[in-house]
Amino acid sequence: MSSGPDGRPPIPRGWVRHPRERMLITPLMAGIGGMLAFFTVVFIVVWLPIHTFDPPASADWAPLSKQALQGRNLFASNGCYVCHSGYSRPQDVRAALYFLYPKVSQPGDFYGNDQSPNILGTERTGPDLSQESGWHPDDWQRAHFYDPRFVDPMSLMPDMKSLFSNAQVDDLVSFVEQRSGKSGLLRYAGQLYAKHVATANQGFPQPYTGFTGAHKPIVGAKPDKALTPPKGQIPEVANLAQIDRSYWLSADPLPVTEANLLRGKEVFLQRCVGCHGLNGDGKGPAATFMSPPPADFTSADDACCGGDTGPGDFYYRILHGWPGTAMENFGERLSVDDIWRVVLFVKTIPNHTLRPNVVPEPSDYITWQPSKDLLTWVKTRQKIADNASFQKKPPTDPFMQEAMRMFPGLSAADHFKLNDRKTPLSLQDAAAGIKTIYEDLLNRAWADAKARGEKLPPVSQRSIPPTVPGQE
Ligand code: HEC
Ligand code: HEC
Repeated sequence: MSSGPDGRPPIPRGWVRHPRERMLITPLMAGIGGMLAFFTVVFIVVWLPIHTFDPPASADWAPLSKQALQGRNLFASNGCYVCHSGYSRPQDVRAALYFLYPKVSQPGDFYGNDQSPNILGTERTGPDLSQESGWHPDDWQRAHFYDPRFVDPMSLMPDMKSLFSNAQVDDLVSFVEQRSGKSGLLRYAGQLYAKHVATANQGFPQPYTGFTGAHKPIVGAKPDKALTPPKGQIPEVANLAQIDRSYWLSADPLPVTEANLLRGKEVFLQRCVGCHGLNGDGKGPAATFMSPPPADFTSADDACCGGDTGPGDFYYRILHGWPGTAMENFGERLSVDDIWRVVLFVKTIPNHTLRPNVVPEPSDYITWQPSKDLLTWVKTRQKIADNASFQKKPPTDPFMQEAMRMFPGLSAADHFKLNDRKTPLSLQDAAAGIKTIYEDLLNRAWADAKARGEKLPPVSQRSIPPTVPGQE
């Protein structure tokens, strides 16, 4: 084939030669175009939402009190958001079965200058904290901030001992306890009321504040003679009131075998020693922060008998936690069988089974027998007709719902006095007490937000009652 004058193949007659190709995008054009594309995205994803997305406050929204806002600033400046996001998604709610994630976050939950823009966080190394309020009492939070390994030996959260002033610790506690809107304040009010009952009934003072608990002795109870129940009442009434009745007399469904006991010991060493101690005597490193302090399992008398130390009672407390005390909810982290196994194991602790290299034997197991007093008590009290859980129309009042969550063992007809012989114990008293605490928390937060000149929704939003999410 012959070639044309410039060495390229000849083109047929009548065709126009294609011009030499040249790059049209100069580096300058590429630069400008790139910037344009980038800022268009920033405009749509960042600028537009900030300036146009302003949903009204949700019914559940509540402002932050002054102290909680200071805590929020500490939350941001200490990088807590790097591990803890601040919005719960539908999949969290589904997977968690209520505990920690009772509801999906709504845009209107983050209203006002104090909470918007939300400290979203992207990483979920730790749990989402948008609904953290009220699941634990303040003393649990303080021990956990001092050293997360104290309460959860497997935690990887860094300790916050660098929050050197006690006020800072309590600001942070205040933020996590009050950040979850009205439903969170309701839970927190329930937790505070239950603390009042647990400490009054067992004769303990309020827990130490800040990090002072790190350097103090474990709190002591009042002498037994100051704590005798009114006549005709067993001393464990308040404790039983916090356990659903169906568990009071139930036995451990698993057989006492070496394998079950050994697995129970493993669970105890992995999860419980920070509070209940390496000897099971309730003197773990977290104990000085807490009031009531963790239970002591070394007494054979408690293991064998008594009014509220049966296997069913223990199971219920490990499953749900013990509101008002630092005893945690393990229902999400331990299988049903493992909870029953650790209950089996706890009943061997008086026989020194926690010693290193000791394998607990079935012969170490101490069988629990209900006391005669307890059996008589149950006979007179376990009336289905009085039991609020069996009512055809369950109560809709949120304060009563919360009272029933705190005291699932009380029936609507039960009216007692605690072991201090003054503090009343009934669902009605609890609902009224929880309501007072809730309203006080909410009103103070509104007053603080107003004093700060915060943007607030109409006052009518404040009087929308709280809900117990997941139960409506
Ligand atoms: C390196 C990641 C990391 C950082 C940083 C971090 N956390 Fe955590 N956090 C975790 C993990 C993991 C857990 C779960 C284990 C546990 O309870 O300790 C947790 C648990 C928690 C809990 C308890 C949740 C519950 O109810 O079970 C709270 C409250 C909490 N963190 C608050 C904070 C605060 C406040 C900060 C900042 C001062 C912070 N965290 C910093 C990882 C982190
Ligand atoms: C964060 C601290 C903490 C952790 C962790 C903890 N507990 Fe507790 N526990 C307590 C406190 C506080 C009490 C309440 C004591 C009281 O009010 O008298 C308690 C009470 C109990 C009770 C009721 C005892 C009784 O005499 O009625 C049982 C059972 C129990 N814990 C078992 C466990 C088991 C098993 C684990 C580990 C899976 C565990 N606890 C982990 C703090 C803790």
